[in-house]
Amino acid sequence: MQPVQLSAGVHWVGVNDRTTDLFEGIWPITREGVTYNAYLVEDEACALIDPVRASKAQQFLEKLGAVCDLSRLRYLVLNHMEQDHTSSVPLLRRLVPGLTIVCTAKARDMLESFYGVTENIRVVDEGDTLSLGETTLRFFVTPFVHWPETMMTWEPERRILFSCDGFGTFGALDGALFDDQIADLAWYEGEGLRYFANVVAKFSKPVRNAISRLGGLDMAVIAPSHGPVWRSDPARIVELYDRWCGYADGPAEPEVTLLYGSMYGFTERMMGAVAEGVSEVGVPVDVFDAGRRHPSYILPSLWSRNGVLVGAPTYEGELFPPVSHALRLAAMKRPRNRLLGIFGSYGWSGGADTDVGQIVEGLDWELVEELHFAGKPTGKQLEEGRRFGRTFGEAVTRG
Ligand code: FEO
Repeated sequence: MQPVQLSAGVHWVGVNDRTTDLFEGIWPITREGVTYNAYLVEDEACALIDPVRASKAQQFLEKLGAVCDLSRLRYLVLNHMEQDHTSSVPLLRRLVPGLTIVCTAKARDMLESFYGVTENIRVVDEGDTLSLGETTLRFFVTPFVHWPETMMTWEPERRILFSCDGFGTFGALDGALFDDQIADLAWYEGEGLRYFANVVAKFSKPVRNAISRLGGLDMAVIAPSHGPVWRSDPARIVELYDRWCGYADGPAEPEVTLLYGSMYGFTERMMGAVAEGVSEVGVPVDVFDAGRRHPSYILPSLWSRNGVLVGAPTYEGELFPPVSHALRLAAMKRPRNRLLGIFGSYGWSGGADTDVGQIVEGLDWELVEELHFAGKPTGKQLEEGRRFGRTFGEAVTRG
């Protein structure tokens, strides 16, 4: 994509990344891609807001150079230090030796520990401003959206909020930058929830605090560091983020995630019966085979739904490892106040249920019911599984 003008004197100079397989080394983006959005604000002094991952620096520099001669760059605003944005900082510093980095005090410490950068840094705090000529940038310190050093940058004349990770989504851009140009915006909203559940969810409280503090701004444009720029309906992505933050303490949606694993099909048979029971009482259920689905795609469901059914065999006396892995990742994000049901097959002794309890300890999940059986479920046990599903679905409906 070419540079895109947001407003007179403000350009998107970000890049698509379609070649990284795992975001943060964990979350798959092979099919979806991601963007690192960078923005150039031009005035008497020019400021670059958040650069890009070093692996995409060539593409980024070409784009930046098409809008502005590098020698005109005076400031580099770093809203956030994670390396998906900052690993190109050493290169930029070499290319533009006089560049002043603008960041919070915590980010300054990270600049030294990540890159050995200690010179020409301007530390800013809540409400501080930076004059570029007629344009003034104002900084909001927003710790833990997503790391402790994070801030956002506000341009009051054009009413643009450069929000970095906040309000971001996974998903490369297919030629269109703005929300009103994207035909399938729902896809980015889905990738927004996946990004949130994978990367941001643990910090829901600070994100919500930031949202309420930013509520006073009359935002015309939200320009995050990942995904589309929201100019037609910026309130939409704020509303979504606020809703997703709200799931942290519950109640989440009155729906069910059924997370299961099966070695030879015994637990899978029971899963089918349980899912039938949940569906019979009209409650939506999302079924995930933990052995075949990456947790990245399971977490959005576990984050946003109130009911969690865990179906897993006992494996060497413990919870079946793929289910354990997905559940542990979900528990790291601290979703509280969910309803829990556990079922599964065992060969000679159980134990899987104890592990589930330990994984979600401290999250205030209410155990609604359990169903364990030896070996292959009998017809009677499958009927019991349908009843189990109905009872669980009804509990989720009641909240
Ligand atoms: Fe997009 Fe937390 O970095």
